[in-house]
Amino acid sequence: MSVRVVIGAQWGDEGKGKIVDLLSDKANYVVRYQGGANAGHTLKFDDKKVVLHLIPSGIFNGDAHCVIGNGVVIDPVALVEEIKGVQEMGFELKDRFFISQTAHVILPYHKLLDQLKEKRRGGDAIGTTGRGIGPAYVSKVSRVGIRMVDLLDKDVLRSKIEQNLKDINFALENLYKEPVLDADELMSELSESIELLEPYICNTTELLHKAIRNEESVLLEGAQGTLLDVDHGTYPYVTSSSPTSGGACTGSGIPPTALDKVMGITKAYCTRVGNGPFPTELLGETGELLREKGAEFGATTGRPRRCGWLDLVALKYVCQINGINELTLTKMDVMDGFEEIKVCTAYKLDGEETDVFPLCLDEIRDVEPVYTSLPGWKNSIEGITSWDELPSTAQSYIRFVEEYLGVKFTIISTGPKRSETIIV
Ligand code: IMP
Repeated sequence: MSVRVVIGAQWGDEGKGKIVDLLSDKANYVVRYQGGANAGHTLKFDDKKVVLHLIPSGIFNGDAHCVIGNGVVIDPVALVEEIKGVQEMGFELKDRFFISQTAHVILPYHKLLDQLKEKRRGGDAIGTTGRGIGPAYVSKVSRVGIRMVDLLDKDVLRSKIEQNLKDINFALENLYKEPVLDADELMSELSESIELLEPYICNTTELLHKAIRNEESVLLEGAQGTLLDVDHGTYPYVTSSSPTSGGACTGSGIPPTALDKVMGITKAYCTRVGNGPFPTELLGETGELLREKGAEFGATTGRPRRCGWLDLVALKYVCQINGINELTLTKMDVMDGFEEIKVCTAYKLDGEETDVFPLCLDEIRDVEPVYTSLPGWKNSIEGITSWDELPSTAQSYIRFVEEYLGVKFTIISTGPKRSETIIV
């Protein structure tokens, strides 16, 4: 039995989907605990490529129960579309898929407000995915949110929508100069989705506690990454949830004392989508090369990702915040062919070197990365499955990172498929 959390250790898109899929065959439960359909978890198996946004990445490997926890914000229409896609692929969800009663619902007005707010911010836009994530968490925290359980009672749902629309329509009319929304239309847009989702909505907190009592193994799947965390990320250029290990507890109802392992996933380089500080960003040819080789385009929005060298100052901070005691290195094969590989080992701030990640926006914006250069390797490592087959320079690169962080890599990914993996 184990309760393990899988965390994004950068700004998201670290390849968590592949790792959760890989680890799922030994899990009894796989649980998403935060975020929403802003996430895009790409899985490759049996020559198929699938992108999941809300359903946990454990659905295709083995027979783990898949749970959407209370910390997730759910767009019912997007979820139904995803459920249908998974069923069409021949995977059964009945008795295997569960949605928390207390997860909050993303309604069309959240998506609309997300897009309108971004437009209004102009040059200061966050660069959100436009999926309504921020406004849905605003509703939750300001205690006017609609929860999955509310979908099961049409009268309650209607009255809550009507209540919310009073404020939202006032803002649409007076602030954004947009047409107002109608409760009847929202109710009818939701009705087909509600019917389909109803059988899956339940008390997932009790389900997970029962699993822990029965000594079953639970895998908690984070979305986005620690540097996008609303508390610990590069605020305000963050998402509105807590992708950290702390968020795994609040977003699932599993207590911190039940966690056995926290696994951080990092790429061999860095990427970021959307706006905000990125100390090791490469704006020239090398960045372009990483983008092309790593196919760094958003799985949800298709946006090109910003690319840069691995940032160990940021990664050390992420290991501390989450209590990471095991690391996975993904996209190692993308580094093939580089004569030298740089890693950022310190920042220069106000003329002084530091290895402490600054928490304030004006500081993190101003830091200058200090790099250590490591030798690259010529031969392709794509698809390699054993440590001994790695070129010695690739092994030294991994050892250097481990030594800096004081945490070991237990999995190294050398390609997008399940099979292209080294278990150390
Ligand atoms: P939101 O989560 O849509 O509100 O977007 C807030 C910030 O998080 C933006 O910079 C997005 O690009 C980023 N973001 C949200 N989801 C993901 C993800 O799954 N991968 C990478 N970045 C993400």
